[in-house]
Amino acid sequence: THIDWTYETAQKSGYKHYMLKEIFEEPSCVAATLSGRIKSAKVHLPEIEELQDLLASSKTLKVVACGTSSYAALSFKYFLENLSDVCVDVEVSSEFRYKRPNFDENTVLVAVSQSGETADTLESVRLAKSKGAKVLAITNVVGSTLMRESDHTLLLNAGPEISVAATKSYVTQLVLLYLLGLKIVELRDQWNERCTKLIDSLLRLPEVLDATLSRAEHIKEVALKYKDFQHFMYIGRGLGYPTALEGALKLKEISYIHATAYPAGELKHGPIALLGPEFPVFAIAPFDALYAKMKNNMIECKARKTKLVVLTSDDCEDVREIADDVLSVNSFSEQLYPVLMAPVIQLFAYYIADALGHDPDKPKNLAKSVTVE
Ligand code: G6P
Repeated sequence: THIDWTYETAQKSGYKHYMLKEIFEEPSCVAATLSGRIKSAKVHLPEIEELQDLLASSKTLKVVACGTSSYAALSFKYFLENLSDVCVDVEVSSEFRYKRPNFDENTVLVAVSQSGETADTLESVRLAKSKGAKVLAITNVVGSTLMRESDHTLLLNAGPEISVAATKSYVTQLVLLYLLGLKIVELRDQWNERCTKLIDSLLRLPEVLDATLSRAEHIKEVALKYKDFQHFMYIGRGLGYPTALEGALKLKEISYIHATAYPAGELKHGPIALLGPEFPVFAIAPFDALYAKMKNNMIECKARKTKLVVLTSDDCEDVREIADDVLSVNSFSEQLYPVLMAPVIQLFAYYIADALGHDPDKPKNLAKSVTVE
């Protein structure tokens, strides 16, 4: 028999691109991230034992990251601030490193970096350490510079990510940051029934992510309808906002379509002026506490005759009346929609990039890790 596989296709397990392979690995990567970290319905993170007192008492937690990792960090801010009294201060590393360091040895800095080699993030860590702050790294790469220079490390365990566009690392960062968040809630004696439910939902994530991925063909059909637009506006509220930012980043970095993202409530302060038939909107609108607000924003967009793609959850019944196209994920814990929706925004961008003839694994002008300033 003749097997039509080259070394490269074997490396990609038969997928056309690493990006596609890595998206489809997300359920098993999340299982690996969770593995051994939930015990008796509580979070088990022995790596951060020495940080417990600080995490229990600090008013603020600082987080630095770049690119996609910074959007995982922003989701963490929404997640943790909603469950506890901690103030989570997220900044992109390229800004943080040049600002006056208004913190001291009572500060914990969380540095999120898939590669652990991003120059701006490493410089932020060095600055923080020079002021005596404690640094907790969240990275995928064992032995990376970030891991070596940080006081403590939580590993994603996502396996190597080859495609320049971050996919499985983003999803596992979200999961690991949520685990960290729940640990902090517990340390601060703010644990409640919602947290126990979240633990249960986290454990079910691999199977529910599989369900999202089983909808890939539909996502492709919808994506192809939009491949020839020059612009895209992503909107969301609450945890939907960082998801909107990441959706826009994925689209622009691999398809080169101009995409921008706003908190939906900001549309009226300027961006809505751009909208019209040539400027479609991609709304992140799960049926959550903010859905009614999102619906109003979507109606405002439609009044400008925009095409409207809505990424929602299966329990949302009325969205089809306003949307041109609906993408949906299983109804689930509201806080976990960023995880379930990640493969949808990633596949949407992937199928457009591929249809336009671009190689999503090697976008022009971009590097997997930016080790120089
Ligand atoms: C580069 C990559 C992005 C990534 C960012 C941060 O710009 O192209 O995909 O999100 O670096 O990388 P890090 O390894 O620090 O997460």
